[in-house]
Amino acid sequence: MIIRLPMQKALQERLQDKKNTRTRKIIYLDDSKTWYMDKEQVNTYLELYNGGDYSKGMLEGEKRLIEDNIDDIVKQLPEKYSFIDLGPGTADKSGKIIRESILKEKEVNYHAIDINEFMLETALKNIGEIRKKSKDKSLTVQGYLGDFTEHFSIISKQIMGPKFIYLGSTFVNYDPKTILKLYSQNMDEKDQIYISAQKPYNIKEIIKQYSVGGYNLMMKPMLAALGFTDVNKESSVRFENGAIEHFIKIDELTPTLKDCANIGDEIVTFTSRKPTKEQFENSISKRFKGEYYENDTHIAFIGNKLQRSRK
Ligand SMILES: C[S@@+](CC[C@H](N)C(=O)[O-])C[C@H]1O[C@@H](n2cnc3c(N)ncnc32)[C@H](O)[C@@H]1O
Repeated sequence: MIIRLPMQKALQERLQDKKNTRTRKIIYLDDSKTWYMDKEQVNTYLELYNGGDYSKGMLEGEKRLIEDNIDDIVKQLPEKYSFIDLGPGTADKSGKIIRESILKEKEVNYHAIDINEFMLETALKNIGEIRKKSKDKSLTVQGYLGDFTEHFSIISKQIMGPKFIYLGSTFVNYDPKTILKLYSQNMDEKDQIYISAQKPYNIKEIIKQYSVGGYNLMMKPMLAALGFTDVNKESSVRFENGAIEHFIKIDELTPTLKDCANIGDEIVTFTSRKPTKEQFENSISKRFKGEYYENDTHIAFIGNKLQRSRK
């Protein structure tokens, strides 16, 4: 079953904030939900996901990290808990934890929040398959179509008992302080959170992973919404301030852009932070305590919020 939630923050509203800031050279329009609005974007994401440099670099390393530590991860989870999957994608990483929990006879209520209906249905179908194969059928499956930054607090209040919040590598698409504050403030003491990131293990190699053509397709609806005549504009990729950024140079002042940008300014359409182990631990330890896992390419954390975490 899918519950539809309203989309509140539109691209136009984000641009509205940027009006009268004529000195700004870089405009960040890198909200992750704008990459998954339509079917072409999702198909592009799935193509990236299912093979090639991006898949090998960004995904395989984290899957290995989960598989290698699965016993320890699942051991930390209560006998009965609600799994809150924030932007599950295909749910194959979160599915590994759920499958193992069921094998260990834990009772799991699965809740997924995704902005894209097709992704949400795919995740629910994949977790539904785990349910079909399980012996006792105690796994329940529920989806919410909406924004996990806006709707998490509402949904989480309605779910009783301990929660396991799977933010995963979507963490790297947000400002760490803001996203960690949002979740810690909406968690109970018994709730746990899973957060992960790709490390900057080889910048040249990582830039290659993100320099695949698909990204331009994922940005197309945003360029159309901004009013660009050429929506097939190629973005450039750079590693700056510890993050991969896809950006375009403004070569046309569309009616939407004319009050807030100049020719030559840049629009960053995508950000993926690559924290070192130290940076990752520093940001998380201000609000959470728990276990860190690491391999050659990835780092992950599972833990609870600090009793007196920052306001
Ligand atoms: C890169 S995939 C991540 C999938 C999976 N969690 C993982 O770690 O591999 C991002 C997923 O999050 C969803 N998504 C991105 N931003 C979102 C937002 N603000 N609210 C809800 N879903 C979002 C996308 O539709 C997509 O399914």
